[in-house]
Amino acid sequence: MMTISNTSSHYPVMLNEVIFSLNIKKNGIYVDGTYGVGGYTNAILDQGAKHVVAIDQDPDAKKRSTATKKKYGPAFTFLHGNFKNLKNLLNDIGVDHVDGIVLDLGVSSPQLDEAERGFSFKKEGPLDMRMSQKGPDAAELVNNASEQDLATIFWRYGEERKSYKIARAIIAARDEIPLSTTTQLADIIKNTFSQKEKAKMKIHPATRCFQALRIYLNEELSSLESSLSQSINILNDKGRLLVVTFHSLEDRIVKRFIKEQSGQKASTMPKDLQKNISTFKAITKKPILPTEEECAENSRSRSAKLRVAQRYIKQQQLYKKES
Ligand SMILES: C[S@@+](CC[C@H](N)C(=O)[O-])C[C@H]1O[C@@H](n2cnc3c(N)ncnc32)[C@H](O)[C@@H]1O
Repeated sequence: MMTISNTSSHYPVMLNEVIFSLNIKKNGIYVDGTYGVGGYTNAILDQGAKHVVAIDQDPDAKKRSTATKKKYGPAFTFLHGNFKNLKNLLNDIGVDHVDGIVLDLGVSSPQLDEAERGFSFKKEGPLDMRMSQKGPDAAELVNNASEQDLATIFWRYGEERKSYKIARAIIAARDEIPLSTTTQLADIIKNTFSQKEKAKMKIHPATRCFQALRIYLNEELSSLESSLSQSINILNDKGRLLVVTFHSLEDRIVKRFIKEQSGQKASTMPKDLQKNISTFKAITKKPILPTEEECAENSRSRSAKLRVAQRYIKQQQLYKKES
């Protein structure tokens, strides 16, 4: 496998594994659904792809994409939007089919590092957490949602076992003064845990709740589901679908999609008939994980999983009755 060196301060997660698994063809068109800082896009273009269409909903990513445009010219197109609208975004520029789609989910390094974006509990910033910088922000949510709704969000999207206790603590705090900063919220969450509990924790006590608020506000799981189903009609035969996930909620969706679409779903339908209606083939049974070296260099890679599937279009048509 070739090794692509990481030259920017942003660390594209599992870059070598992604480029290798994408199986890039010289005349191929590829979609990078999560442009971010352009780590994958630049590498795909450097490998000789004919065209990369990159998508990102963050206006800051759009600004950054001008550097890629300058370097690669007509081989690169940036589309500002949500990948849940994948098909329409591509249709708007006259692209119906592509040879590969890659999604690297979650937030980018700049989104996490810039306190102003409000994604990090480690940095004091406004309670924002919106990737698109549009719509209701985290402050609006934590200051107005009911106890039950907050608890449900923490449980459903953060798998936080203390979801009710945390929701109650938030309501009590906001009755005194509206919540406005990330560190204020992180402290409220932290204080719901005993010293003994905190001593045992491997992650910051606010990690799960911050993840939950972010997933809910940005509608991350439904966007993922919708883009996966659209990929069926967008990928050419043998085109590859790659998704890098960072937590079990995302990974479960991707795993289930590949399983169902490749005829591995538990079903009473005979196995060979299931194959007949498959749309994808799983390229690896288990997800690809980052190397130990990468995890040592980039702590964010530690929870990453890469799943790869290949579009499978059955060539012969089912028997058609003559009319
Ligand atoms: C982990 S970063 C991608 C980093 C990128 N692979 C690189 O090497 O620079 C995820 C990016 O995807 C964007 N994003 C996340 N969900 C999105 C969605 N549903 N639609 C469009 N962009 C999304 C975020 O704004 C962020 O910039």
